[in-house]
Amino acid sequence: MASSRRRAPQPTPRRHAGRGVVKPALLRHASSLKAGHSAVRIMVLSGPNLDRLGRREPSIYGTATLEDIHRRLEAVGQEQGAAVDCRQSNHEGDLLDWIGQAADGAADGILINPGALTHTSYALYDAVRSALIPTVEVHLSNPYAREEFRRKSVVVPACLGSIAGLGAMSYQLALLGLIDHLRTIAQSRPIVSGPRQP
Ligand code: DQA
Repeated sequence: MASSRRRAPQPTPRRHAGRGVVKPALLRHASSLKAGHSAVRIMVLSGPNLDRLGRREPSIYGTATLEDIHRRLEAVGQEQGAAVDCRQSNHEGDLLDWIGQAADGAADGILINPGALTHTSYALYDAVRSALIPTVEVHLSNPYAREEFRRKSVVVPACLGSIAGLGAMSYQLALLGLIDHLRTIAQSRPIVSGPRQP
């Protein structure tokens, strides 16, 4: 039986970048970014086997460790006035939980290197798609120039874009691009809360 309880009026959700709906909490944060009150917050996620960077096939993935990459991203974030929160897990469920936290307000945007889950995980696709915050897929190697199974990402259709093939620099370029994107959308989005105009 349908409930007769009346719901309080909800703020109208708005569209974001041609897909999905932006949650009001994000709009409030976008407003404070626009007003210069808070730093852009980026969650950087790396998936299975990326904890082994430096020792894992250095001819493909380079000699930098994930720790080196994280320190570099934090330094770039500091230069750019952005807060960077770097995490790695070999477990798909952790990545899903972190994307959910980012979606619930812990971050404004996500960088993700899903490792081999790139090619198989519809769960990550669903999580990124429903997070409704800009997400960039990152790869150290160029998966399109490698084995056949790597040439398809099932996650990237849910993303704003991707950067691949530039080693550790892929992460840095993706970070700069994402910060720039978040600032651009914060500038172009009208502030919806605040005093009514006459
Ligand atoms: C990778 C590419 C994937 O195909 C692979 O499974 C990885 C690393 C990259 O960064 O190049 O684990 O995501």
